[in-house]
Amino acid sequence: MKIAVIGKGNVGGGLAQRWRAAGHEVTEIGRGGGAADEAEAVLLAVPSAEIEDALRGVSGVEGKTVLDATNHLQGERPDFPSLAHQVKSITGGPVAKAFNLNFASIYDEIDAQATTPSCLYCADDEARPLTEQLIRDSGYEPVSAGGLESARALEETLGVLFAVMSTGGGPVFYRFGKPGEL
Ligand SMILES: NC(=O)c1ccc[n+]([C@@H]2O[C@H](COP(=O)([O-])OP(=O)(O)OC[C@H]3O[C@@H](n4cnc5c(N)ncnc54)[C@H](OP(=O)(O)O)[C@@H]3O)[C@@H](O)[C@H]2O)c1
Repeated sequence: MKIAVIGKGNVGGGLAQRWRAAGHEVTEIGRGGGAADEAEAVLLAVPSAEIEDALRGVSGVEGKTVLDATNHLQGERPDFPSLAHQVKSITGGPVAKAFNLNFASIYDEIDAQATTPSCLYCADDEARPLTEQLIRDSGYEPVSAGGLESARALEETLGVLFAVMSTGGGPVFYRFGKPGEL
């Protein structure tokens, strides 16, 4: 699959590497902007304050499926139900909230786990199959939290992960399962 990754940092650079290893063709786009015209999927991995500038700097994002990994860490929240809704207001296509609850610093330890770690996500229905595939191809098991109306809840769950990380001594994986699955 052709993927455009916007933001070349911990998340963007890390997922680009993992998707390439899974056989995808990844274009990484930084502050200078670039083109996503050929891409079937776009990952957005920039600071939340940069969402608008980052998307406006890339041609061909209109109508594309976007996986939004952003979190709101500081400053005033934009006037949208969630950051994912802000993304959708700019691109107009299907959007998923994904990877915002997975620590990039331990991507390189995913494959060494005895159990596949989960990646909580929510998505517009049209974005769901592609999002699940890209979550699986990064090494995680997708766990759906429903439609995009859950995006704000996923963004606010970051506080729980930070609390676990600070008391538990570092970044963590998590796994969701029905009884009998774990
Ligand atoms: N780190 C994590 O574990 C983690 C996990 C889940 C979600 N997140 C979220 O994912 C997003 C990225 O986090 P990160 O840790 O990858 O941050 P990061 O390492 O600081 O990388 C952010 C990248 O975005 C680029 N950028 C900034 N403004 C841009 C613009 N207008 N156009 C294109 N690129 C731009 C930065 O470029 P410059 O270097 O030139 O500034 C940098 O390469 C954030 O919203 C964060 O809250 C992070």
